[in-house]
Parts: sequence; structure tokens; C-alpha cells
Amino acid sequence: MDRISLDYTLCMESALGRANGLSPYLLEAVRLPLEQARAALEERRRAGSLAWMDLLQRNLEDVVTFGEVARERFETLVVLGIGGSALGTTALARALLHPFHNLLPRVERQGAPRLFVVDNVDPDTVAGLFEHLDLRSTLINVVSKSGSTAETMAVFLVARKLLQEQLGEEQVAGHLVFTTDPYSGVLRKIAWAEGIRAFEIPPGVGGRFSVLSPVGLLPAAIVGLDVKGLLAGARLMEAWVDDADVLGNPAYLFATLQFLHHTRFHRALSVMMPYSDSLCDVADWFRQLWAESLGKAKDRQGRTVHAGTTPIRALGATDQHSQVQLYMEGPDDKLVTFLRVEGFAHQVVIPSLYGQEGSLGYLGGHSLGSLLGAEQEATAWALAERGRPSLTVSLPRVDATSVGQLLYALQVATAVAGELYGVNAYDQPGVELGKKATYALMGRPGFEDLAAEIQGGGEGGEKPGRRYVLA
Ligand code: PA5
Repeated sequence: MDRISLDYTLCMESALGRANGLSPYLLEAVRLPLEQARAALEERRRAGSLAWMDLLQRNLEDVVTFGEVARERFETLVVLGIGGSALGTTALARALLHPFHNLLPRVERQGAPRLFVVDNVDPDTVAGLFEHLDLRSTLINVVSKSGSTAETMAVFLVARKLLQEQLGEEQVAGHLVFTTDPYSGVLRKIAWAEGIRAFEIPPGVGGRFSVLSPVGLLPAAIVGLDVKGLLAGARLMEAWVDDADVLGNPAYLFATLQFLHHTRFHRALSVMMPYSDSLCDVADWFRQLWAESLGKAKDRQGRTVHAGTTPIRALGATDQHSQVQLYMEGPDDKLVTFLRVEGFAHQVVIPSLYGQEGSLGYLGGHSLGSLLGAEQEATAWALAERGRPSLTVSLPRVDATSVGQLLYALQVATAVAGELYGVNAYDQPGVELGKKATYALMGRPGFEDLAAEIQGGGEGGEKPGRRYVLA
């Protein structure tokens, strides 16, 4: 199995000069904190609080078997979830399915269902999708660890009513499958009460670290992705991380480079820029993983730190014509991570036409893949010329084992960065506050005081603050 690689030359002072790049001595200086981070992670894992790391050892035969049966039976799979309960599925599907999977006839999809991931409550999207689906051949996978997220549950209620109206109550359970907490939450309760098949998100696995649990792997199995290959890739990365020195594996090194460019050079924006359409949603998945894990007001000692860097997704070569001017000459506050593919599945050769035209003739005979690769190299070089740092993660090809390595490495990197910043990477108090405010505004029992507070008539009877609205 080929390994992915991480080239960090253009992060270093040898390429960027001392004012902009990291010195090898500085990297050496973080060896001790990295060793401490590794020890802390091992300790947390022993204590059972890093359950996502144990996902690779789980037996997923039930997921694979369900996937095989569902693939035969259904024409369409709809996944309902949000945040960590949807982004992993989208990333896997975009990376590993045919780019126009849903447009292909079934035979060209190797019998796999079409896939739609609904991760918002926009009424036009939801109505637009369900208006056109034949529910008789549709399976709906509701994914929510808590079982109480308003967005997911609202769309579930819409879908359930449609199933009941169009297929009859006795058919409903057969068109639903849940992925949720094994014991708690309303989805689990409904599954028990109504005989709906439910897969478990193992306790202690948070949404953004759940892509290699049934959250991501059940839809993957249903649409026929190579689940075993994904896990094999992740295990390969796990072994690399475990066996290598802290500065000799891509996960620890990635975290270190991000941390040092932030803390030494005040580069607080982390751009991930795949030069591959199929990896675009991996960058989107990473955006959530990094942001929700590291963006914390307090460190583990309770001190105010406001930690984290802001992850940004860009796409090469498209965003060369949109964002790169800013990256090149705007504020020097970014570290760019390129994702690069060495071997694309298709070799599209650019025809040698108009050879006499200087601005076209040079393209002929090259492949589109080599053009994309050259554009990535050119952008990295041009950034470095301006003293702007980048690193490049190369995948031998976009397949299950490479993607499994990449996802696992980025999860470990996030955990390591959490240790370096000294924050708890596994909670999300800010998200929870927003969820509670939504419950309050939508009239959920138990949240009346919060509703009053938001609307300005809370305890103490304060008047609503003055509003400034231009209409
Ligand atoms: O990463 C996280 O924990 C969050 O993004 C959750 O996945 C998201 O809020 C959805 O939560 P749930 O799966 O409970 O519906």
C-alpha cells in the first residue's frame, strides 16, 4: 500500500528566509512538548476518552452486510445529519464515488443507490428533493448522536410524515435506518419502539471524529465504497504515527507546523487547498474538525486563551483565479496546505491543436492532470517567492486507502494540536449554546427562561436592547 507524504520544505527558513520560515532548531525545540502531547494522548486513550482511536479495531461486518442488502433494494439513499454527522459522508462520497454518480444509470453505478446528503433545513432544498424522490425505492439514514439536533430532527419529521403518507405506516420502518447513540436520545427510543434498524455511534466518539464509525461507513457501505480499504489506510497511518518519532510522522508534524506558524508568525488562518475536485469536501470536513476542536475560549486549566486558527477551504486551480491574489499579497496571516494527487484515475491528454498559436500550442500533448500538478507547484513556488509558507500533502491516487490515511492523519493532527494549545479538543460549548438558543426560540419545553433572555424580557425584566435595522 502506498503511503501519502508531507513535504514541508516551503514552511522552512531555508526556503522563506528567517523572517518567514521555521528553523530546524525551532522544530527540535518542540520535540519535548510533542513527546508530552503523545504521552497525554496515550493516557487519555487508556482512560477511555479517545474512543475514536479505537474505531479501527471494531468489527464492521454488520455495517458491510447491511450495506450489501440495502444496495440491492434501494435506488436512492438520503442521509439526514449535520456537522460531524454529515460532513464525513459528503467527503467520502465526493472523494470516492464517480463525480457524476447521481446522474449515471444504475448499471453504471454498479447497482449502487444515488446519494443525497441533507445537512440543512432550507425549505427549498428539502422540498425540492422530496418532491422528486420515489420513496418506494428510497432509504433514509438519520444520523444524530444526540438524537436532538433541531435541524436533523426537523427534516426527519418531514421525511417520516411523507413516508407514512405515501407508503403507509407499516412500510415506514423498512425505509429508515438510524445511526445514533447506543443507549440514549429520542432516535434510539423511536428505533426500539418502532422496530427501526439502528447502528451505534460508540460512546465517547464525537461527531467530528466519527467518519470511520457507522456515521460515515454505513452510507459508504450502502453506496458500495471500499470500507475495508478505508480502514486499512487508516490503520496504516495509525501504525506510522505509533512507530515513528514525533517529528517523523505526518500527523504530529502537520500539527506542529500549524502551531508554530500560528504562535511564532501570527498566521492565524489555515487554508486547505486541494488540487483535486474529489478532495474538495475532505477540506470541508477538515474545516469543521479543526475549527470545532481547537476554537476554545479556555484551556484545560481554565485560563482564557481563545485558541485556534481559522480553517479555510480553497480549491485549486479554480481559486487561483479568486483567492490566490490575496494569499500572495494580502495580510501574511495564512499557512496553506496543498493536497496534491500524483496519479489521477483518468488520463486526459490535451490535443495538439493550433500548434502555431504560442498561447495554445504549448498545452498540446500534456495531460490535464499534469497541468493541475504544475499549477499547484507553481502556486506553492510563487507563494514562497513572497515569503508565504505552504506545505504539500501528496496522495499517490484518490482511493480508499489514501483517503483513509489522510482522514486519520488529520484527526490525529487535530488531537495533537489540541494538546499543544492545551485545550479540550472534544467538547463544543459554543455549538451547544447555539443549539440551546434554537430550542428556546422554537418553544422547546424547559428552555423558557433562555427564550425570555434572548428576547430581552428575561430575569430582571430588562427591555429588549435597541435594534438597528435598515429595511
Ligand atoms: O462534531 C460535532 O460534535 C458536531 O458537529 C455534531 O456532529 C453536530 O452538532 C450534530 O450533532 P448530532 O450528531 O448530535 O446531531
